[in-house]
Amino acid sequence: MKIDLNQLNDSHFGISTPDPLRFAFNKKSSPHAGGMSEPVKSEDRAKVFQQITSNAVAKSHKRCLYIHIPFCRVRCTFCNFFQNAASRKLVDDYFEALLLEIKLKSQLEWTQSGLFHAVYIGGGTPTDLSPDQVERLGNAIHGSFPLSTDCEITLEGRTNRFTDEMFEKALAGGFNRFSFGVQSFNTQVRRSAKRLDDREVVLERVASLSATDEAPIIIDLLYGLPYQTLEVFEQDLSDFMATGAHGVDLYQLVVGGTAPMLNMVEKGRIPPPATTPDKASMYEFGVNFMRKHHIKQLSVNHWARDNRERSQYNSLAKTYAEVLPIGCGAGGNIGGYGLMHHRSLETYMTAIKNGDSTVAMMVKQGPNEFINAALKVGFDSGVVRRSELPAFKGSDTFDLLTPLFQVWQSRGLVELERDYLVLTLAGSFWVVTLAQSAIEAMNTLNKPNVMHSHKSQHSDNKSFAKVAR
Ligand SMILES: C[S@@+](CC[C@H](N)C(=O)[O-])C[C@H]1O[C@@H](n2cnc3c(N)ncnc32)[C@H](O)[C@@H]1O
Ligand code: SF4
Repeated sequence: MKIDLNQLNDSHFGISTPDPLRFAFNKKSSPHAGGMSEPVKSEDRAKVFQQITSNAVAKSHKRCLYIHIPFCRVRCTFCNFFQNAASRKLVDDYFEALLLEIKLKSQLEWTQSGLFHAVYIGGGTPTDLSPDQVERLGNAIHGSFPLSTDCEITLEGRTNRFTDEMFEKALAGGFNRFSFGVQSFNTQVRRSAKRLDDREVVLERVASLSATDEAPIIIDLLYGLPYQTLEVFEQDLSDFMATGAHGVDLYQLVVGGTAPMLNMVEKGRIPPPATTPDKASMYEFGVNFMRKHHIKQLSVNHWARDNRERSQYNSLAKTYAEVLPIGCGAGGNIGGYGLMHHRSLETYMTAIKNGDSTVAMMVKQGPNEFINAALKVGFDSGVVRRSELPAFKGSDTFDLLTPLFQVWQSRGLVELERDYLVLTLAGSFWVVTLAQSAIEAMNTLNKPNVMHSHKSQHSDNKSFAKVAR
Protein backbone atom coordinates (compact mmCIF):
# COMPACT_ATOMS: atom_id res chain seq x y z
CA MET A 1 0.00 0.00 0.00
CA LYS A 2 1.30 3.47 -0.94
CA ILE A 3 -0.02 7.00 -0.93
CA ASP A 4 -0.40 8.22 -4.49
CA LEU A 5 1.87 11.24 -4.93
CA ASN A 6 0.46 11.68 -8.43
CA GLN A 7 -2.84 12.79 -6.93
CA LEU A 8 -0.97 15.59 -5.12
CA ASN A 9 0.71 18.71 -6.45
CA ASP A 10 2.77 21.72 -5.40
CA SER A 11 -0.10 22.97 -3.25
CA HIS A 12 0.64 19.90 -1.10
CA PHE A 13 4.41 19.65 -1.57
CA GLY A 14 5.32 23.35 -1.48
CA ILE A 15 7.51 24.72 -4.22
CA SER A 16 11.25 24.36 -4.20
CA THR A 17 12.64 27.73 -3.09
CA PRO A 18 15.65 28.98 -1.13
CA ASP A 19 13.16 30.77 1.15
CA PRO A 20 10.44 28.25 2.12
CA LEU A 21 9.34 30.33 5.13
CA ARG A 22 8.12 33.11 2.88
CA PHE A 23 7.46 31.37 -0.42
CA ALA A 24 6.87 27.59 -0.09
CA PHE A 25 3.13 28.06 -0.57
CA ASN A 26 0.90 30.87 -1.80
CA LYS A 27 -1.05 31.71 1.31
CA LYS A 28 -2.93 30.18 4.19
CA SER A 29 -6.44 29.52 2.93
CA SER A 30 -8.21 27.96 5.89
CA PRO A 31 -7.79 28.42 9.64
CA HIS A 32 -7.87 24.67 10.39
CA ALA A 33 -7.12 21.40 8.68
CA GLY A 34 -9.99 18.93 8.28
CA GLY A 35 -10.79 15.53 6.87
CA MET A 36 -13.53 13.94 4.80
CA SER A 37 -17.05 13.63 6.05
CA GLU A 38 -20.45 12.51 4.84
CA PRO A 39 -23.49 14.72 5.48
CA VAL A 40 -26.32 13.17 7.49
CA LYS A 41 -29.73 13.86 5.91
CA SER A 42 -31.82 16.33 7.88
CA GLU A 43 -34.57 13.74 8.48
CA ASP A 44 -32.03 11.34 10.05
CA ARG A 45 -30.30 13.83 12.37
CA ALA A 46 -32.63 13.49 15.36
CA LYS A 47 -32.37 9.70 15.29
CA VAL A 48 -28.57 9.78 15.00
CA PHE A 49 -28.28 12.34 17.78
CA GLN A 50 -30.45 10.20 20.00
CA GLN A 51 -28.27 7.17 19.22
CA ILE A 52 -24.94 8.80 19.92
CA THR A 53 -26.06 10.50 23.12
CA SER A 54 -28.21 7.80 24.69
CA ASN A 55 -25.42 5.31 25.17
CA ALA A 56 -22.91 5.45 27.95
CA VAL A 57 -19.73 4.92 25.96
CA ALA A 58 -16.20 3.87 26.86
CA LYS A 59 -14.84 6.35 29.39
CA SER A 60 -11.35 6.39 27.94
CA HIS A 61 -12.22 9.25 25.55
CA LYS A 62 -11.53 12.66 26.92
CA ARG A 63 -14.27 15.20 26.57
CA CYS A 64 -14.61 18.93 26.23
CA LEU A 65 -17.56 21.25 26.50
CA TYR A 66 -17.84 24.22 24.16
CA ILE A 67 -20.39 26.96 24.89
CA HIS A 68 -20.85 29.73 22.35
CA ILE A 69 -21.84 33.34 23.06
CA PRO A 70 -22.63 34.82 19.63
CA PHE A 71 -22.56 38.55 20.48
CA CYS A 72 -20.11 41.42 20.25
CA ARG A 73 -20.79 45.03 21.12
CA VAL A 74 -18.73 46.29 18.18
CA ARG A 75 -17.58 44.36 15.13
CA CYS A 76 -13.82 44.37 14.55
CA THR A 77 -12.88 45.01 10.94
CA PHE A 78 -10.79 41.86 10.52
CA CYS A 79 -13.06 39.34 12.18
CA ASN A 80 -14.71 36.39 10.49
CA PHE A 81 -16.40 35.23 13.70
CA PHE A 82 -18.85 38.08 14.26
CA GLN A 83 -22.49 36.98 14.43
CA ASN A 84 -24.78 39.47 16.24
CA ALA A 85 -24.52 42.96 17.70
CA ALA A 86 -25.03 42.72 21.45
CA SER A 87 -27.97 44.42 23.14
CA ARG A 88 -28.96 43.79 26.75
CA LYS A 89 -32.34 42.33 25.81
CA LEU A 90 -30.94 39.97 23.14
CA VAL A 91 -28.16 38.79 25.44
CA ASP A 92 -30.54 38.28 28.38
CA ASP A 93 -33.02 36.27 26.31
CA TYR A 94 -30.20 34.22 24.81
CA PHE A 95 -28.73 33.56 28.22
CA GLU A 96 -31.97 32.04 29.51
CA ALA A 97 -32.20 29.84 26.39
CA LEU A 98 -28.61 28.76 26.96
CA LEU A 99 -29.32 27.72 30.55
CA LEU A 100 -32.21 25.64 29.27
CA GLU A 101 -29.98 23.96 26.70
CA ILE A 102 -27.35 23.30 29.37
CA LYS A 103 -29.99 21.61 31.49
CA LEU A 104 -31.23 19.47 28.61
CA LYS A 105 -27.80 18.47 27.32
CA SER A 106 -26.52 17.69 30.80
CA GLN A 107 -29.32 15.17 31.26
CA LEU A 108 -28.25 13.07 28.29
CA GLU A 109 -27.01 9.63 29.27
CA TRP A 110 -23.84 10.25 27.26
CA THR A 111 -23.08 13.46 29.16
CA GLN A 112 -23.17 11.83 32.56
CA SER A 113 -21.15 8.80 31.47
CA GLY A 114 -17.69 10.36 31.32
CA LEU A 115 -15.52 13.19 32.56
CA PHE A 116 -15.11 16.58 30.90
CA HIS A 117 -11.49 17.73 30.98
CA ALA A 118 -11.84 21.19 29.50
CA VAL A 119 -14.62 23.72 29.10
CA TYR A 120 -14.39 26.71 26.79
CA ILE A 121 -16.82 29.62 26.68
CA GLY A 122 -16.06 31.20 23.34
CA GLY A 123 -17.53 33.72 20.97
CA GLY A 124 -18.23 36.28 19.96
CA THR A 125 -17.53 37.95 23.23
CA PRO A 126 -18.55 36.00 26.33
CA THR A 127 -17.42 38.92 28.49
CA ASP A 128 -20.40 40.85 27.06
CA LEU A 129 -22.52 38.80 29.47
CA SER A 130 -23.23 40.59 32.77
CA PRO A 131 -21.13 39.73 35.86
CA ASP A 132 -24.10 37.88 37.37
CA GLN A 133 -24.61 35.88 34.19
CA VAL A 134 -20.95 34.89 34.14
CA GLU A 135 -21.23 33.59 37.69
CA ARG A 136 -24.50 31.80 36.97
CA LEU A 137 -23.00 30.22 33.88
CA GLY A 138 -20.02 28.93 35.88
CA ASN A 139 -22.35 27.56 38.56
CA ALA A 140 -24.57 25.91 35.94
CA ILE A 141 -21.55 24.20 34.39
CA HIS A 142 -20.30 22.95 37.75
CA GLY A 143 -23.75 21.82 38.79
CA SER A 144 -24.59 20.04 35.55
CA PHE A 145 -21.53 18.31 34.11
CA PRO A 146 -19.15 15.70 35.47
CA LEU A 147 -15.88 17.65 35.47
CA SER A 148 -12.40 16.24 36.06
CA THR A 149 -10.77 17.56 39.24
CA ASP A 150 -8.27 19.54 37.15
CA CYS A 151 -10.81 20.66 34.55
CA GLU A 152 -9.70 23.80 32.72
CA ILE A 153 -12.62 26.24 32.46
CA THR A 154 -11.86 29.15 30.17
CA LEU A 155 -13.77 32.37 29.71
CA GLU A 156 -12.88 34.11 26.46
CA GLY A 157 -13.48 37.76 25.75
CA ARG A 158 -12.02 41.23 25.88
CA THR A 159 -10.72 43.37 28.69
CA ASN A 160 -13.19 46.13 27.79
CA ARG A 161 -15.85 46.15 30.53
CA PHE A 162 -14.16 43.17 32.19
CA THR A 163 -14.47 44.82 35.59
CA ASP A 164 -13.14 43.67 38.95
CA GLU A 165 -16.69 42.68 39.76
CA MET A 166 -16.88 40.44 36.68
CA PHE A 167 -13.50 38.90 37.49
CA GLU A 168 -14.59 38.13 41.04
CA LYS A 169 -17.89 36.67 39.92
CA ALA A 170 -16.19 34.58 37.26
CA LEU A 171 -13.80 33.19 39.86
CA ALA A 172 -16.71 32.56 42.23
CA GLY A 173 -18.43 30.66 39.39
CA GLY A 174 -15.35 28.45 39.05
CA PHE A 175 -13.68 29.85 35.93
CA ASN A 176 -9.98 29.14 36.22
CA ARG A 177 -8.51 30.51 32.97
CA PHE A 178 -9.11 33.72 31.02
CA SER A 179 -8.30 34.34 27.38
CA PHE A 180 -8.47 37.93 26.19
CA GLY A 181 -8.23 39.03 22.58
CA VAL A 182 -5.81 41.95 22.52
CA GLN A 183 -4.75 41.61 18.84
CA SER A 184 -2.35 44.57 19.13
CA PHE A 185 -1.62 47.08 21.88
CA ASN A 186 -0.88 49.82 19.36
CA THR A 187 -3.53 52.53 19.43
CA GLN A 188 -3.45 53.31 15.71
CA VAL A 189 -3.74 49.61 14.84
CA ARG A 190 -6.50 49.16 17.38
CA ARG A 191 -8.53 52.15 16.23
CA SER A 192 -8.28 51.22 12.57
CA ALA A 193 -9.46 47.69 13.45
CA LYS A 194 -12.33 49.16 15.54
CA ARG A 195 -11.01 47.64 18.75
CA LEU A 196 -12.37 49.18 21.92
CA ASP A 197 -9.92 51.03 24.22
CA ASP A 198 -6.49 52.48 23.52
CA ARG A 199 -3.09 51.04 24.31
CA GLU A 200 -2.69 52.31 27.90
CA VAL A 201 -6.12 51.08 28.99
CA VAL A 202 -5.57 47.56 27.64
CA LEU A 203 -1.99 47.37 28.93
CA GLU A 204 -3.06 48.39 32.40
CA ARG A 205 -6.01 45.98 32.51
CA VAL A 206 -4.05 42.93 31.33
CA ALA A 207 -1.26 43.81 33.77
CA SER A 208 -3.54 44.27 36.76
CA LEU A 209 -5.50 41.06 36.08
CA SER A 210 -2.25 39.11 35.64
CA ALA A 211 -0.81 40.55 38.84
CA THR A 212 -3.66 39.10 40.92
CA ASP A 213 -2.32 35.60 40.15
CA GLU A 214 -5.86 34.33 40.65
CA ALA A 215 -5.83 32.38 37.37
CA PRO A 216 -3.82 32.18 34.15
CA ILE A 217 -4.40 35.24 31.96
CA ILE A 218 -3.77 34.54 28.29
CA ILE A 219 -3.80 37.05 25.44
CA ASP A 220 -4.25 36.65 21.70
CA LEU A 221 -2.09 38.76 19.41
CA LEU A 222 -2.57 38.98 15.67
CA TYR A 223 0.21 39.72 13.22
CA GLY A 224 -0.38 41.37 9.85
CA LEU A 225 -3.03 44.00 10.71
CA PRO A 226 -3.06 47.33 8.83
CA TYR A 227 -0.51 49.74 10.38
CA GLN A 228 1.06 46.85 12.29
CA THR A 229 4.59 47.02 10.96
CA LEU A 230 7.33 44.71 12.19
CA GLU A 231 8.37 47.45 14.64
CA VAL A 232 4.82 47.70 15.98
CA PHE A 233 4.67 43.91 16.34
CA GLU A 234 7.98 43.95 18.19
CA GLN A 235 6.47 46.46 20.60
CA ASP A 236 3.36 44.25 20.95
CA LEU A 237 5.59 41.37 22.03
CA SER A 238 7.48 43.57 24.49
CA ASP A 239 4.15 44.80 25.81
CA PHE A 240 3.02 41.22 26.36
CA MET A 241 6.15 40.67 28.44
CA ALA A 242 5.55 43.88 30.39
CA THR A 243 1.97 42.94 31.30
CA GLY A 244 3.09 39.73 33.03
CA ALA A 245 0.32 37.78 31.24
CA HIS A 246 0.82 34.03 31.63
CA GLY A 247 0.48 32.99 28.01
CA VAL A 248 0.13 34.28 24.47
CA ASP A 249 -1.26 33.05 21.16
CA LEU A 250 0.23 34.52 18.01
CA TYR A 251 -2.24 34.25 15.15
CA GLN A 252 -1.58 35.08 11.55
CA LEU A 253 -4.25 37.47 10.28
CA VAL A 254 -6.37 35.73 7.65
CA VAL A 255 -9.15 37.98 6.43
CA GLY A 256 -11.96 36.43 4.47
CA GLY A 257 -15.67 36.21 4.00
CA THR A 258 -17.63 39.21 5.11
CA ALA A 259 -14.95 40.86 7.27
CA PRO A 260 -15.35 44.65 6.73
CA MET A 261 -11.59 45.20 6.38
CA LEU A 262 -11.47 44.12 2.75
CA ASN A 263 -14.02 46.72 1.72
CA MET A 264 -12.25 49.44 3.72
CA VAL A 265 -8.96 48.65 2.02
CA GLU A 266 -10.62 48.64 -1.38
CA LYS A 267 -12.04 52.11 -0.70
CA GLY A 268 -8.60 53.33 0.34
CA ARG A 269 -9.68 54.07 3.91
CA ILE A 270 -6.95 51.96 5.49
CA PRO A 271 -3.71 50.46 4.16
CA PRO A 272 -3.84 46.78 3.19
CA PRO A 273 -2.94 44.11 5.71
CA ALA A 274 0.52 42.52 5.48
CA THR A 275 1.35 40.19 2.62
CA THR A 276 1.99 36.53 3.35
CA PRO A 277 5.81 36.87 3.08
CA ASP A 278 5.65 39.82 5.50
CA LYS A 279 3.53 37.80 7.92
CA ALA A 280 6.09 34.99 7.64
CA SER A 281 8.79 37.46 8.69
CA MET A 282 6.64 38.54 11.63
CA TYR A 283 6.14 34.94 12.69
CA GLU A 284 9.89 34.38 12.48
CA PHE A 285 10.41 37.45 14.63
CA GLY A 286 7.84 36.21 17.17
CA VAL A 287 9.39 32.75 17.46
CA ASN A 288 12.86 34.21 17.93
CA PHE A 289 11.57 36.72 20.46
CA MET A 290 10.04 33.94 22.56
CA ARG A 291 13.21 31.90 22.29
CA LYS A 292 15.31 34.86 23.36
CA HIS A 293 13.16 35.31 26.43
CA HIS A 294 13.02 31.57 27.22
CA ILE A 295 9.25 31.42 27.01
CA LYS A 296 8.03 27.83 26.74
CA GLN A 297 6.45 26.94 23.41
CA LEU A 298 3.31 24.80 23.85
CA SER A 299 2.42 24.60 20.18
CA VAL A 300 3.34 26.26 16.91
CA ASN A 301 1.46 29.41 17.93
CA HIS A 302 1.05 29.29 21.69
CA TRP A 303 3.55 30.13 24.43
CA ALA A 304 3.37 29.88 28.22
CA ARG A 305 5.25 31.93 30.78
CA ASP A 306 4.74 29.39 33.56
CA ASN A 307 3.53 25.86 34.22
CA ARG A 308 0.14 27.03 35.27
CA GLU A 309 -0.87 27.66 31.69
CA ARG A 310 -1.67 24.32 30.05
CA SER A 311 -3.90 25.29 27.12
CA GLN A 312 -5.86 22.08 27.64
CA TYR A 313 -8.88 22.95 25.55
CA ASN A 314 -6.86 23.91 22.52
CA SER A 315 -4.85 20.73 22.58
CA LEU A 316 -7.72 18.39 23.51
CA ALA A 317 -10.31 19.77 21.11
CA LYS A 318 -7.92 19.21 18.22
CA THR A 319 -7.47 15.55 19.16
CA TYR A 320 -9.77 12.57 19.34
CA ALA A 321 -11.46 14.26 22.32
CA GLU A 322 -15.19 14.60 21.88
CA VAL A 323 -16.64 18.10 22.12
CA LEU A 324 -20.21 18.68 23.29
CA PRO A 325 -21.45 21.90 21.63
CA ILE A 326 -23.93 24.19 23.35
CA GLY A 327 -25.36 27.46 22.07
CA CYS A 328 -26.11 29.26 18.83
CA GLY A 329 -23.34 28.67 16.27
CA ALA A 330 -21.48 26.14 18.44
CA GLY A 331 -19.88 23.11 16.87
CA GLY A 332 -18.44 19.88 18.17
CA ASN A 333 -18.23 16.14 17.66
CA ILE A 334 -19.60 13.10 19.43
CA GLY A 335 -19.35 9.40 18.64
CA GLY A 336 -17.83 9.84 15.19
CA TYR A 337 -20.25 12.57 14.11
CA GLY A 338 -19.54 16.27 13.66
CA LEU A 339 -22.31 18.60 14.84
CA MET A 340 -22.98 22.22 14.04
CA HIS A 341 -25.70 24.26 15.71
CA HIS A 342 -27.93 26.86 14.06
CA ARG A 343 -25.97 30.03 13.36
CA SER A 344 -29.05 32.21 13.07
CA LEU A 345 -30.02 33.50 16.51
CA GLU A 346 -33.70 33.50 15.62
CA THR A 347 -33.65 29.89 14.45
CA TYR A 348 -31.73 28.81 17.53
CA MET A 349 -34.09 30.63 19.91
CA THR A 350 -37.16 29.18 18.18
CA ALA A 351 -35.68 25.68 18.37
CA ILE A 352 -35.06 26.03 22.10
CA LYS A 353 -38.53 27.48 22.69
CA ASN A 354 -40.23 24.65 20.80
CA GLY A 355 -38.04 21.92 22.24
CA ASP A 356 -36.63 21.17 18.76
CA SER A 357 -33.12 20.08 17.90
CA THR A 358 -30.45 22.79 17.91
CA VAL A 359 -28.41 20.90 15.30
CA ALA A 360 -28.30 22.56 11.87
CA MET A 361 -25.73 20.30 10.27
CA MET A 362 -24.43 16.85 11.02
CA VAL A 363 -21.72 14.86 9.29
CA LYS A 364 -20.45 11.35 9.72
CA GLN A 365 -16.72 11.66 10.09
CA GLY A 366 -14.67 9.67 7.61
CA PRO A 367 -12.83 6.42 8.28
CA ASN A 368 -9.51 8.25 8.76
CA GLU A 369 -10.79 10.56 11.48
CA PHE A 370 -8.60 9.10 14.25
CA ILE A 371 -5.54 9.33 12.03
CA ASN A 372 -6.45 12.88 10.98
CA ALA A 373 -6.88 13.92 14.60
CA ALA A 374 -3.53 12.43 15.55
CA LEU A 375 -1.88 14.17 12.59
CA LYS A 376 -3.38 17.51 13.58
CA VAL A 377 -2.15 17.11 17.15
CA GLY A 378 1.33 16.29 15.93
CA PHE A 379 1.54 19.15 13.45
CA ASP A 380 0.11 21.60 15.94
CA SER A 381 2.74 20.59 18.51
CA GLY A 382 5.54 20.94 15.93
CA VAL A 383 6.48 17.23 16.00
CA VAL A 384 4.63 14.34 14.38
CA ARG A 385 5.49 11.18 16.35
CA ARG A 386 5.35 7.76 14.69
CA SER A 387 4.11 6.18 17.93
CA GLU A 388 1.17 8.59 18.16
CA LEU A 389 -0.25 7.82 14.72
CA PRO A 390 -2.87 5.04 14.60
CA ALA A 391 -2.21 2.37 11.95
CA PHE A 392 -4.04 2.54 8.64
CA LYS A 393 -5.50 -0.88 7.75
CA GLY A 394 -2.59 -2.58 9.51
CA SER A 395 0.11 -0.39 7.92
CA ASP A 396 2.28 2.10 9.78
CA THR A 397 0.89 5.55 8.96
CA PHE A 398 4.24 7.27 9.43
CA ASP A 399 5.76 4.92 6.83
CA LEU A 400 2.85 5.50 4.47
CA LEU A 401 3.36 9.26 4.64
CA THR A 402 7.16 9.13 4.41
CA PRO A 403 7.28 9.80 0.63
CA LEU A 404 5.46 13.10 1.26
CA PHE A 405 7.66 13.84 4.29
CA GLN A 406 10.73 13.34 2.09
CA VAL A 407 9.49 15.89 -0.43
CA TRP A 408 8.88 18.37 2.39
CA GLN A 409 12.33 17.73 3.78
CA SER A 410 13.89 18.50 0.41
CA ARG A 411 11.92 21.78 0.46
CA GLY A 412 13.08 22.86 3.91
CA LEU A 413 9.73 22.42 5.65
CA VAL A 414 10.57 19.52 7.95
CA GLU A 415 13.41 17.44 9.31
CA LEU A 416 12.71 13.76 9.02
CA GLU A 417 14.09 11.57 11.78
CA ARG A 418 13.52 7.82 12.09
CA ASP A 419 10.42 8.12 14.29
CA TYR A 420 9.74 11.83 14.25
CA LEU A 421 8.86 14.51 11.77
CA VAL A 422 10.06 17.83 13.15
CA LEU A 423 8.74 21.05 11.62
CA THR A 424 11.29 23.68 10.72
CA LEU A 425 10.44 27.34 11.28
CA ALA A 426 9.05 27.39 7.72
CA GLY A 427 7.05 24.23 8.39
CA SER A 428 5.65 25.76 11.59
CA PHE A 429 4.47 28.82 9.69
CA TRP A 430 2.80 26.63 7.05
CA VAL A 431 1.51 24.13 9.60
CA VAL A 432 -2.15 24.12 8.57
CA THR A 433 -1.22 23.61 4.92
CA LEU A 434 1.07 20.71 5.86
CA ALA A 435 -1.53 19.06 8.12
CA GLN A 436 -4.18 19.41 5.42
CA SER A 437 -1.82 17.98 2.80
CA ALA A 438 -1.00 14.96 5.00
CA ILE A 439 -4.72 14.34 5.49
CA GLU A 440 -5.32 14.59 1.74
CA ALA A 441 -2.38 12.28 1.08
CA MET A 442 -3.99 9.69 3.36
CA ASN A 443 -7.25 10.16 1.46
CA THR A 444 -5.54 8.90 -1.70
CA LEU A 445 -5.63 5.50 0.03
CA ASN A 446 -9.45 5.59 0.32
CA LYS A 447 -11.99 5.40 -2.45
CA PRO A 448 -11.92 8.96 -3.79
CA ASN A 449 -15.55 9.70 -4.63
CA VAL A 450 -17.82 9.08 -1.64
CA MET A 451 -17.15 11.94 0.69
CA HIS A 452 -16.90 15.69 0.75
CA SER A 453 -13.98 17.51 2.20
CA HIS A 454 -14.85 19.92 4.97
CA LYS A 455 -12.05 22.07 6.14
CA SER A 456 -12.55 22.71 9.78
CA GLN A 457 -14.01 20.83 12.65
CA HIS A 458 -15.09 23.44 15.09
CA SER A 459 -17.53 26.27 14.57
CA ASP A 460 -16.52 29.82 14.89
CA ASN A 461 -13.57 29.63 16.98
CA LYS A 462 -12.75 26.18 17.90
CA SER A 463 -15.49 23.56 16.84
CA PHE A 464 -16.45 22.83 13.14
CA ALA A 465 -14.58 25.87 14.58
CA LYS A 466 -12.63 26.97 16.71
CA VAL A 467 -11.15 26.49 16.81
CA ALA A 468 -9.13 29.30 18.15
CA ARG A 469 -8.12 30.16 16.83
C1 LIG B 1 -13.42 34.44 18.02
S1 LIG B 1 -12.29 35.62 18.56
C2 LIG B 1 -12.99 36.07 20.09
C3 LIG B 1 -12.14 37.05 20.87
C4 LIG B 1 -12.80 38.24 21.46
N1 LIG B 1 -14.12 38.44 21.04
C5 LIG B 1 -11.99 39.48 21.10
O1 LIG B 1 -12.53 40.41 20.64
O2 LIG B 1 -10.82 39.52 21.33
C6 LIG B 1 -10.90 34.64 19.03
C7 LIG B 1 -9.62 35.05 18.37
O3 LIG B 1 -9.66 34.79 17.00
C8 LIG B 1 -8.67 35.55 16.38
N2 LIG B 1 -9.13 36.08 15.09
C9 LIG B 1 -10.22 36.83 14.86
N3 LIG B 1 -10.27 37.17 13.56
C10 LIG B 1 -9.18 36.64 12.97
C11 LIG B 1 -8.67 36.66 11.64
N4 LIG B 1 -9.29 37.30 10.66
N5 LIG B 1 -7.50 36.01 11.40
C12 LIG B 1 -6.87 35.35 12.38
N6 LIG B 1 -7.31 35.27 13.65
C13 LIG B 1 -8.45 35.92 13.95
C14 LIG B 1 -8.34 36.73 17.30
O4 LIG B 1 -7.00 36.68 17.72
C15 LIG B 1 -9.29 36.51 18.45
O5 LIG B 1 -8.74 36.86 19.68
S1 SF4 C 1 -12.59 39.87 17.37
FE1 SF4 C 1 -13.95 39.35 19.04
S2 SF4 C 1 -15.10 41.25 19.46
FE2 SF4 C 1 -14.14 41.51 17.50
S3 SF4 C 1 -15.78 40.92 16.07
FE3 SF4 C 1 -14.47 39.12 16.42
S4 SF4 C 1 -15.44 37.98 18.03
FE4 SF4 C 1 -16.31 40.06 18.05
